[in-house]
Amino acid sequence: MELVQDTSRPPLKYVKGVPLIKYFAEALEPLENFRARPDDLLISTYPKSGTTWVSEILDMIYQGGNLEKCRRAPIFIRVPFLEFKAPGIPTGLDVLKDTPPPRILKTHLPLALLPQTLLDQKVKVVYVARNAKDVVVSYYHFYRMAKVHPEPGTWDSFLEKFMDGEVSYGSWYQHVQEWWELSHTHPVLYLFYEDMKENPKREIHKILEFVGHSLPEEIVDRIVQHTSFQEMQKNPMTNYSTIPLDIMDHKISAFMRKGALHPPSFPPYPGIAGDWKTTFTVAQNEHFDTDYAEKMAGCSLSFRSEP
Ligand code: A3P
Repeated sequence: MELVQDTSRPPLKYVKGVPLIKYFAEALEPLENFRARPDDLLISTYPKSGTTWVSEILDMIYQGGNLEKCRRAPIFIRVPFLEFKAPGIPTGLDVLKDTPPPRILKTHLPLALLPQTLLDQKVKVVYVARNAKDVVVSYYHFYRMAKVHPEPGTWDSFLEKFMDGEVSYGSWYQHVQEWWELSHTHPVLYLFYEDMKENPKREIHKILEFVGHSLPEEIVDRIVQHTSFQEMQKNPMTNYSTIPLDIMDHKISAFMRKGALHPPSFPPYPGIAGDWKTTFTVAQNEHFDTDYAEKMAGCSLSFRSEP
């Protein structure tokens, strides 16, 4: 009973002006004791931008393409999620205690909440950004299935909340821009989901160079294959099916979403760029575009929201 009550969609909690899942907000204080190591690697993303995908790619790289080693545990254990906390599941910090270096870490935190130790230790960062329209659609479905979030409300009201930065982790617009700015002074490899979708091998080569690993071409091909949407969707170590139903209900919406809603033979095809078109109305799209132009004015980042 306790577990069900605890996970019954508590309201977001604001920390330094940033709205967060209540449990994650509570995890920030213990996180102050976290000490980064110079050989850590941080994966940073705004939620729903391809975090799990790039996590699996990086673990494959660190394990030299060894599939068995990558099946040793679910992705959220292999790549500790720094601010993670939810009833009945080990926190990110708990997982971290049992993670031997060199460690791959994950966060969605905006810079205002990022543990300073990561910057002080000059920890390398792989940042993945995804176009805002696909992010907000993916986030809406994630809110529906992951019950640590408040109720998403209607799609229209959720879209407004996203534009106002009133969803967990706050403003997408600020997140993608501030991490881009950071990449000018800190070792950040800034990647785009759409580029990974277009040519995963090319992007994996960028990651290899950034982390200073080199692998034979056939291993790179194996990583491309193993980290395809179809493979990750059926892999219990990457599809979050091991998380208790009270926390994530895949019957409402699968974590690897598009594949579940639409069988691969039926368009739109899984893990895609441009899916937002099936959700946005023409009016919502126009309103979003106008607001987007204001919020991203003067920013040199350019996103592709077409496949
Ligand atoms: P959709 O909800 O649009 O399907 P995150 O891991 O940051 O939470 O991002 C989740 C999104 O990435 C989901 O998007 C999921 O389907 C997509 N995704 C996960 N693995 C993928 C892969 N291997 N290829 C393409 N998309 C992937």
